[in-house]
Amino acid sequence: MELKELFLKRQSTREYSDRPVETDKLKKICELAQLAPSAINAQPYKMYAIAGGKAKSFAKNIQKDGANEWASGCTAFIVIEQLEARSVTRGERVITNAEFIPNDVGILAAYIALAAEDMGVQNCIVGLRDEKGIAEFLGLPETARFPLVIALGYAAEGYPVREKRRRDFEKAVTVLE
Ligand SMILES: Cc1cc2nc3c(=O)[nH]c(=O)nc-3n(C[C@H](O)[C@H](O)[C@H](O)COP(=O)(O)O)c2cc1C
Repeated sequence: MELKELFLKRQSTREYSDRPVETDKLKKICELAQLAPSAINAQPYKMYAIAGGKAKSFAKNIQKDGANEWASGCTAFIVIEQLEARSVTRGERVITNAEFIPNDVGILAAYIALAAEDMGVQNCIVGLRDEKGIAEFLGLPETARFPLVIALGYAAEGYPVREKRRRDFEKAVTVLE
């Protein structure tokens, strides 16, 4: 798909068909997303691809207090686990990725969302989540951090590609030359 077309098609989809996302496709999406850049190339995250029956029981973890009701229709999820900060020594300097981890996670989520759409799998990046519930679901310690979840599936038939609502270019961008 041409890049602009992909950017216009990728949207937060909130109505899905019953068609399951194939495990091989989920793996391919994660493999492509691994190409995302990250500070000092630390890749401070791990992805958990959840499909099939497991996806049905996962949805509740992003539906706390009645949020994201639409997620019950999703047939797959990719959970991003945030890993510990690292540092590297470059000559005299010690560089840590600590302050950049949220950026890295966001970039990874964007790669996942775009790779999925490019493979015909619709999705929605989800920030509202129950991290303790996710930890329990994955059998990880309560202290584990899960900053974002990407909910995936095939859009319901007739689900429209919405026109993008974005700030005026002049307000969002300043060009200096
Ligand atoms: C970090 C982040 C968290 C988000 N969390 C949610 C969420 O919990 N529930 C939801 O329905 N949409 C969520 N969204 C989707 C945004 O609402 C959506 O990206 C925005 O309105 C722009 O619409 P579009 O994605 O269709 O272009 C999130 C998006 C991002 C980037």
